[in-house]
Amino acid sequence: MASFPVINMENLNGEERETTMEIIKDACENWGFFELVNHGISHELMDTVEKLTKEHYRKCMEQRFKELVASKALEGVQSEINDMDWESTFFLRHLPVSNMSEIPDLDDDYRKVMKEFVEGLEKLAEQVLDLLCENLGLEKGYLKNAFYGSKGPTFGTKVSNYPPCPKPDLIKGLRAHTDAGGLILLFQDDKVSGLQLLKDDQWIDVPPMRHSIVINLGDQLEVITNGKYKSVMHRVIAQTDGTRMSIASFYNPGSDAVIYPAPTLVEKETEDEKNQVYPKFVFEDYMKLYAGLKFQAKEPRFEAMKTMESNVNPSPIATV
Ligand SMILES: [Fe+2]
Repeated sequence: MASFPVINMENLNGEERETTMEIIKDACENWGFFELVNHGISHELMDTVEKLTKEHYRKCMEQRFKELVASKALEGVQSEINDMDWESTFFLRHLPVSNMSEIPDLDDDYRKVMKEFVEGLEKLAEQVLDLLCENLGLEKGYLKNAFYGSKGPTFGTKVSNYPPCPKPDLIKGLRAHTDAGGLILLFQDDKVSGLQLLKDDQWIDVPPMRHSIVINLGDQLEVITNGKYKSVMHRVIAQTDGTRMSIASFYNPGSDAVIYPAPTLVEKETEDEKNQVYPKFVFEDYMKLYAGLKFQAKEPRFEAMKTMESNVNPSPIATV
């Protein structure tokens, strides 16, 4: 089996650009994931983010998680748990308006460092979206514009820790799902593994790699590319020892952005075969649906949006 795609972004500036773009294309078509190195975000900054995130977990989150585990008697479970995950999380929103100053328990240093880090990630997300445009034959800026809506993209971060779990076979760190949004950028622990993606019906590890950023594609990119690129199921297996840090930033459409397949990517219909066309919808409506169906397959979500679309725009009724 081909190995997990790793992109050295420095190679985009030299002779190896073409080969590198091919690896990205193959990753988008066949993996839904790839890992970036030499992505321009300083290693020193990443080290500080990691140090402060781990300190914050120990200081503010760990005890709360232990109490939750005790209150639900999760240590002693005997059968598979399907309605919760073995994870400790909090969320930060950056765009359209930051809520970082309202999040309790964050000290000034941590806020400052996270702000600098996510500004780098935002630039990186836009750069990666343009690489995707280039591979798809879309004009530069097409995907950024498609996400824009009236207030620009939604950009937020889920900061997670996956503490050691005594029964990783019975309770997942995070149950299998595809991501609803656009482009996801992940800074994951380089020592404790656990993230897996589903490829050809097999769970494959996303390898921890120091100072890398893992990219994956959400459902909206599948819709805009009309299925040329796919969002891929992934999950987290908690480990019996070691706490895994995961900082996932979501570069998503604005809530009122209208999402639909890029016209140039919709194949022309042939006489006897109607090609599948993904639905057109407002991103916020998709998110409302996703909230209740995150851990289910994406196809029924696309179908539901298609049904809503035909309710909104009924076919003309023949009159006599
Ligand atoms: Fe995810």
